[in-house]
Amino acid sequence: MKKMFFLFSFIQLIMVNVFAADDISIIPQPVKISRSSGNFILPKNITIELNSHLADVKETALEFSKKISIVTGYQTRITENGTNSLNAIHLFLNKKNDVALGDEGYTVSVTAKGVFIYANKPAGLFYGLKTLLQLLPKEIESNSFIQKSSWIIPAVEITDYPRYKWRGILFDVVRHFFTKQEVKSFIDNMVKYKYNMLHLHLTDDQGWRVEIKSLPKLTEVGAWRAERTGRWGEFSKPSPDEPKTYGGFYTQDDIKEIIKYAADRYVTILPEIDIPGHSLAAVASYPELSCTPGTYQVNSGDRFMIWKGKDFYGLLDNTLCPANENVYTFLDKVFTEVAQLFPFEYIHIGGDECYKGFWEKSEACQQLMQKEGLKTQEELQSYFIKKVEKIVQSKGKKIIGWDEILEGGLAPDATVMSWRGMKGGIEAAKMNHHVVMTPNDFAYVDLYQGDPVAEPPTYSMLRLNKSYEFDPLPEGVDPKYILGGQCNLWSERLSTMRHAEYMLWPRAFATAECLWTPAAEKNWNSFYQRVEKQFLRFDISQTKYSRSMYDPVFTTSKDANDSLLIQLKTEIDGLDIYYSFDETEPDNFYPKYKNQLSIPKDASNLKVITYRDNKPIGKLIVMPIAELRKRAGKK
Ligand code: ACM
Repeated sequence: MKKMFFLFSFIQLIMVNVFAADDISIIPQPVKISRSSGNFILPKNITIELNSHLADVKETALEFSKKISIVTGYQTRITENGTNSLNAIHLFLNKKNDVALGDEGYTVSVTAKGVFIYANKPAGLFYGLKTLLQLLPKEIESNSFIQKSSWIIPAVEITDYPRYKWRGILFDVVRHFFTKQEVKSFIDNMVKYKYNMLHLHLTDDQGWRVEIKSLPKLTEVGAWRAERTGRWGEFSKPSPDEPKTYGGFYTQDDIKEIIKYAADRYVTILPEIDIPGHSLAAVASYPELSCTPGTYQVNSGDRFMIWKGKDFYGLLDNTLCPANENVYTFLDKVFTEVAQLFPFEYIHIGGDECYKGFWEKSEACQQLMQKEGLKTQEELQSYFIKKVEKIVQSKGKKIIGWDEILEGGLAPDATVMSWRGMKGGIEAAKMNHHVVMTPNDFAYVDLYQGDPVAEPPTYSMLRLNKSYEFDPLPEGVDPKYILGGQCNLWSERLSTMRHAEYMLWPRAFATAECLWTPAAEKNWNSFYQRVEKQFLRFDISQTKYSRSMYDPVFTTSKDANDSLLIQLKTEIDGLDIYYSFDETEPDNFYPKYKNQLSIPKDASNLKVITYRDNKPIGKLIVMPIAELRKRAGKK
């Protein structure tokens, strides 16, 4: 019996080790990580030892201890006079600066005797704890108590620090409004993956979301639009007397609360006031700011801009008038309050997608152009941005703007956020300006992430594997000008927080790793396996995510007889694709895709589903043959 007991214990020990070793799966991948033998088993009375009395360190320790005690049910205790006692979690600031770690780096050492996290600064301890949470079993992601016989942390040695200091996500809270609580939960998820910048897109054609006390109509009028549900861009125009019931805004107290919540988690808020285009909410509130004063309404998702490829044509004037001095008085008021409210050194002034056709027709703009010797509408916008830069600087802040601010001449001290690919960023860096990279072809997480026939409607395509290829440092650019990067979550088509999460994850895992992990340490195969582990954690935290990486990619070609051929592949390895043309639902007893398919005469749909290890993993996709013909350019 005794022998049996020992054998059982031995097997259990091995199983614990195997389980723990397999379970190391951290996003973003740390700079250096090595597994050592053994594990640390969380004691039922956990001591968190600090070696400093800094409030920031205490705050970080408290947040962690609350999380741990809620989920495990264990007692936690924080002491500020840490020694090297056994069985404790130590959060120690380095006595001597470790240059390699910088301000946000950390080391984690887990042994059977305890956990040691060292950093130069409190932010490093915060990130060390985020890593420790990912080392704990996935159940730690629960929002409530979980009964578990033991909480095991595999023994590891980690040294980690970020590649970039600007690791952001843009959250568009205009096209759809998200409450203060939702913004906080957005921050909670960001920081798990070591993001440190939340770019809040606060104003646009569909709303003005920040209280400006000296300009009350911005939120009395500008924050509200007619409610519409369905397909964005195809909504009906609101009638003038229709109640404007959809919207909302953050009071200045709300903003202060969000800033504090973010700062406690080492997140900076970058506010964006998008001008001179994208300004319909401001114009609806104060029509005299337009070159074409009249009656305007906040846009409700009805079409007012016609897009032809990269060109666009405005049916309605949604711009501020660069030739109207009252516009600069207005902006002075806005930036006075924004600068007082947001502690960050930068204010984002937009500058993108400004349709200038109404300026072209404006007498006042023509006179101004003549007086100032401006030859093009781009130079007129540049004149406007340079004046705005002076206003913003007079409030003690710097401007950052979308790459259109390069057109017509860049303002002297502007930082450029490159979104139309990396081109603008490269140009700005070569002119010795700072740059944040957020190229639409790698970092726009509002785009399709799987085939459009199987996804909620949006536009263009950014699959997970492409988002993982993002590298903010283009060849030939001096790295010192690249502050970092962001992924951008525009919200035209995000009417709920659940869908915001669906669009963000897993692509924001990819951006997080592209911004944190050294380029040489990135590895797609390792990454998607770690993504799958995060999915299990999201299942527990009940965070929504997209499983589109399990769905096949369809491509088409034509054979020598001009007949359609269909190719299927998957983003990740190890999946089997089963298909049917006969309208029935394929499963793993159906034909398995091996080579390109030709279409049986009269078939109208190709149905496909992916399996792994004989279990369905992707969703059933019904692809109309007519759609494939269209894609192949066939009738
Ligand atoms: C943008 O996507 N218009 C910056």
